[in-house]
Amino acid sequence: MDIFTAIEKRYSHKEKFLPTAVPLADLEKIAAAGLAAPSGTNSGCVKLIILQNREEIQPLCDITPTDALLTAPAVIVVFTEKSKQNWKCNFELEDYAAATAQMLLAATALGYSSLWQDSPFFVADKQRAACELLNVPLDYHLRVVLPIGLPDGEGSRREKLPFSARVSYGKFGK
Ligand SMILES: Cc1cc2nc3c(=O)[nH]c(=O)nc-3n(C[C@H](O)[C@H](O)[C@H](O)COP(=O)(O)O)c2cc1C
Repeated sequence: MDIFTAIEKRYSHKEKFLPTAVPLADLEKIAAAGLAAPSGTNSGCVKLIILQNREEIQPLCDITPTDALLTAPAVIVVFTEKSKQNWKCNFELEDYAAATAQMLLAATALGYSSLWQDSPFFVADKQRAACELLNVPLDYHLRVVLPIGLPDGEGSRREKLPFSARVSYGKFGK
């Protein structure tokens, strides 16, 4: 699938997934697409954990039992490493966002659906619980989980504001 088709097909799959396993080679391809993203000062602060089966994923569902996580056959969890930054230039947010966007497109290009799911981990207790569960050192921040798999049915699609309402030429609003 070419990049523009993947961009067009990508959507946030918030519903259930089929139990069909995602081969590790595909998960690694998706992870590699994320790590290939641009990164401020090339710090490499983005780290990933691949969860390959329900046994590994299920404990995360106790922390955040969404339809997508409760059924996904695979998950990639995205972290940033705080010590890779300094007070003058901290690109953790930009770096994980760029990596995540690339992984969503890579998953789509391979025929899977996925979802950027982060809001549960804004809650300190849930952030701590998930990091403890995954044995993540204190110097890391869990940013987002990506459930990945084949969708169980057509997922809902969302309308975007039209191109013409968001792009101008030469000067703002023209
Ligand atoms: C920074 C960010 C955070 C998001 N967090 C969540 C989330 O926690 N849970 C969720 O269901 N969707 C989340 N989403 C998905 C958005 O709801 C979705 O991208 C948006 O509604 C547009 O729909 P689309 O992705 O299908 O185009 C997030 C997306 C982004 C970019």
